[in-house]
Amino acid sequence: MKDILTAPFVQEMMKTTANMYRLGWDERNGGNISYMLETEEVAEYLDLDNVIRTIPTGFDATDLIGKIFIVTGTGKYFKNVEFDPETNLGIIRIAKDGTTAELLWGYKDGGRFTSELPAHLMSHMTRLKKDPNHRVVMHTHPTATLAMTHIHELDDKKFTHTIWEMCTECIVVFPDGIGVLPWMVCGNNEIGIATAKKMEEYRLVVWGLHGIYGAGKDMDETFGLIETVEKAAQLYMSIAHLPHLNTIRDEELKAVADAFGLEYRKDFLKLN
Ligand code: 13P
Ligand code: ZN
Repeated sequence: MKDILTAPFVQEMMKTTANMYRLGWDERNGGNISYMLETEEVAEYLDLDNVIRTIPTGFDATDLIGKIFIVTGTGKYFKNVEFDPETNLGIIRIAKDGTTAELLWGYKDGGRFTSELPAHLMSHMTRLKKDPNHRVVMHTHPTATLAMTHIHELDDKKFTHTIWEMCTECIVVFPDGIGVLPWMVCGNNEIGIATAKKMEEYRLVVWGLHGIYGAGKDMDETFGLIETVEKAAQLYMSIAHLPHLNTIRDEELKAVADAFGLEYRKDFLKLN
């Protein structure tokens, strides 16, 4: 059996959480990541018959029965993951009842998966129906994106349009746009259901006055989606209060999307 700490998926979680912490997005225990793994790749590192303990999830994830995820722990700090992955991360498998997680590795101090597991697993279920290559759900508190939710209308179309206008390549990175939820209590099934519903249309969901969710086929793609929104939000926060002499017009956004041959949310532009 190979050493789990050398597994590429553990290494990726360590590197990504460290990177996000240093960007200032994940203060204290802010943020969480879940990454769906291939059973065969996990079997190279762990005895899949050895369930350390079981943890109820509190919701039904029947679609994910037997699926294995590496997930950040609740209350754990992104800054600490790289130094003690076995305490700050866990590898869970959704049990046959669909409502229990079987712990295969990690949460060494008796901990458990993120309080946002409902939003993560419900989003995985939604995105897998849209794209069989989907694997990663990431939640974080990027500063400018959060700041923007204080001063911008929390509306899918208006928020997406403002972000698209900030830099030319936004529409190329997320032509499907951004879903936006109002402020809600976090860490429960209700916000999970609302997030997963938005994930039917979007790979990015902003939580007003809280943070953002991204979904993608790997860590780079998912991180890249969020990073691009955050860059645009930084631009918005730098210029929103200044006179605007130039902007990317809707015809120009269309021209970029067409040049890249993209299916984009045409209804989010105000063309005729
Ligand atoms: P957890 O520590 O439970 O992952 O929660 C962090 C967070 O960002 C809640 O939205
Ligand atoms: Zn959060």
